Amino acid sequence: MAELEHVHHCTPDDHNHGSPAHAHGHGHGHDFAAANRAFFDQHAHEHSHRHDDAHSRERSVRQVNALRKAWPELFDEDSTVAMDYACGTGLVSQQLCQYVKSVVGVDISQASVDLYNTQASNQGLAPEEMRAVCAELKGEPGELDGLKFDIIVCCASYHHFPSITDTTRVLASFLKPGGSLLVADIKSSEDGRELFPATHHHLVPHKHGLSEDAVRAAFEGARLVGFDMRDVFQAKMRPTGEEVQWFVVRGVNPG
Ligand SMILES: C[S@@+](CC[C@H](N)C(=O)[O-])C[C@H]1O[C@@H](n2cnc3c(N)ncnc32)[C@H](O)[C@@H]1O
Repeated sequence: MAELEHVHHCTPDDHNHGSPAHAHGHGHGHDFAAANRAFFDQHAHEHSHRHDDAHSRERSVRQVNALRKAWPELFDEDSTVAMDYACGTGLVSQQLCQYVKSVVGVDISQASVDLYNTQASNQGLAPEEMRAVCAELKGEPGELDGLKFDIIVCCASYHHFPSITDTTRVLASFLKPGGSLLVADIKSSEDGRELFPATHHHLVPHKHGLSEDAVRAAFEGARLVGFDMRDVFQAKMRPTGEEVQWFVVRGVNPG
């Protein structure tokens, strides 16, 4: 894989989403991206002193296994070029990398990206196999040096995105023709209750989880085809102890 030469380090100004386009209809102008960046930078600093906790690691294993079980043909260790979007400190990439040729992690939190790369290098992984960059993708030509991907995986992060329609459109633009966007997240409950506690509302615009209809609309808006969403497992939400339903979903870039 070519080196990513034109990716700059994130600065606070990169993440000023105070523009009307980002604020409109999502939390009354609250800057979710900035709040997430601050939170996950702090989180990564805390985690740099200890191993990522077992709960998050187990969740990542279950998600990657669920994706492989649902669509085994997408994972080829000799050829699959993968992006892990909103990669955080790399829990998902660390699982994924054994089943694909290469993984590029992308996140808005520089501290998370730094920890991702330190851990990858400590494990003896070459940057060509697994590396992360701090970037805010906009879907413009030349981003990530023009790299396109066979699969883009995004786990436990869609509920953080102010507009899943905008994010899906951007991610779809990084897929090769025939490439797949794979998302794992928390499904909204039938009774429509809030699944995320008030302590997380500044980080989570989708505090009820995500409905199949909302995800389908975002995928179709990005012109992805072959929409395939599956319930995969239930797990306890750490802050509340409540069981929630996780789903995986696939959409394909028809080219
Ligand atoms: C719950 S963590 C999940 C990390 C990883 N995918 C995993 O499953 O362990 C959510 C991640 O989303 C990132 N994030 C939040 N808002 C974002 C945005 N608007 N754009 C890109 N990344 C974002 C955060 O920095 C954080 O690393």
